[in-house]
Amino acid sequence: MGCQYFTPSDGGADTFTLAMPKLTFGRGCLGEAGARVAAQGMTRIALFTDPNLKDGPYVATVLQSIRDVGLETAIFSEIRIEADDTSVKNAARFIAGGNFDGVVSVGGGSVMDTAKAAIVYGLYPRDEFLDYFPPPLGAGEPIPGALLPHLACPTTSGTGSECTSLSVIRINDLKTKFVLGNPLLLPDEALVDPTCCDTLPGNIVASTGFDLLSHAIECYTSKAYTRWAKVCDPRNRPYVQGANPWSDLAATRALELVGKYLERGVNDASDSEARDQLMWAATLAGMAFGNTGTHLPHALSYGITHLMHDITTDDYAVASPFIPHGISVIASAPAIFRYTAAGAPERHLEAANSLGADTSDAGNEDAGELVAGRIVELMKKTGMPNGIGDLGFGEADIKSLAASSVRQLRSIANAPRETNLQDIENIYAAALSYG
Ligand SMILES: [Fe+2]
Repeated sequence: MGCQYFTPSDGGADTFTLAMPKLTFGRGCLGEAGARVAAQGMTRIALFTDPNLKDGPYVATVLQSIRDVGLETAIFSEIRIEADDTSVKNAARFIAGGNFDGVVSVGGGSVMDTAKAAIVYGLYPRDEFLDYFPPPLGAGEPIPGALLPHLACPTTSGTGSECTSLSVIRINDLKTKFVLGNPLLLPDEALVDPTCCDTLPGNIVASTGFDLLSHAIECYTSKAYTRWAKVCDPRNRPYVQGANPWSDLAATRALELVGKYLERGVNDASDSEARDQLMWAATLAGMAFGNTGTHLPHALSYGITHLMHDITTDDYAVASPFIPHGISVIASAPAIFRYTAAGAPERHLEAANSLGADTSDAGNEDAGELVAGRIVELMKKTGMPNGIGDLGFGEADIKSLAASSVRQLRSIANAPRETNLQDIENIYAAALSYG
């Protein structure tokens, strides 16, 4: 069944390429940072983190480790949750003026994404910030040359940014987020230390956990790489290329783990087995979606964070309006998978099974409902908002939400089913509440 998904198509791609950083996983591995950066030949290091982590134990461990090998570090910590262009511009000036030959990032997706973009704009500044972003808002210009080596150290179990060539940046003037993507952005190395999740509040484990859950399902159900157009010059091939046999392996395992451990990891901070497994699941899902791309749940999340009203989330010290990325993604996901199942029903059924749904006696016609039902069940058990209505949206917002999200061209094209503006409006309407 799985192999048939990759049946060759006329003019379709007939190869896929896997890109991921050299990655070390395990409790305590942050203490290897010094040896790792020394081995990469770094001598003067820019360390990116955020204000909440700056004086905490994970940054201290990394700094001590780098000091132990006799190297210099300068810290940039003015990074807000939900990386924005203001942070990136300031961070780029830090890079440009620091004579650095390497970068270490310690934090969640916002920190790693800021570090990636700051290296680009620090080395190759542009008057027009969106020049390196893809159309329709960006000019799609290539990054002119090599970037600095980057060691990424995630401190949450969801983003997967340490494994991707993507940097998601909020453009403040436009009040919305866009994705800067380029193979050059992929970190050279990652240290994934589950110790960092020991003290995370449950709400953050939940939001990041649903982010990883959606990464994994989106990978597994995205359009097959063989259905994207063949690009003969390997230098011009997209870094996100649709589902492929390797991403299937990582995504399936990530779904099994998040289905089994999410509720435990959210509701019991002392359950280190569950939290360690969620960190591994996030790593697997990051490796997978870094090579496949995401599809509708991420595309539609951008409309939500673009147009969100006055709202905050417990355990996130961020001023209103703010909705954590994982919540903005998962709020529409059940309605989306009910819609996309018709485009790849076997895959949705398999994903539901991996996530822990009972698929015995189920047929293809049940696939969307089984995926959606299992996600809603997990959302309820972990205290998530019950649809976009709980995020402050109503019927009157649907057209605006759809008009905003329809600009995410690549992600929408990566869905297993053709999706137009009317389809997106219908999905948002169905996502208002899950009963
Ligand atoms: Fe995500």
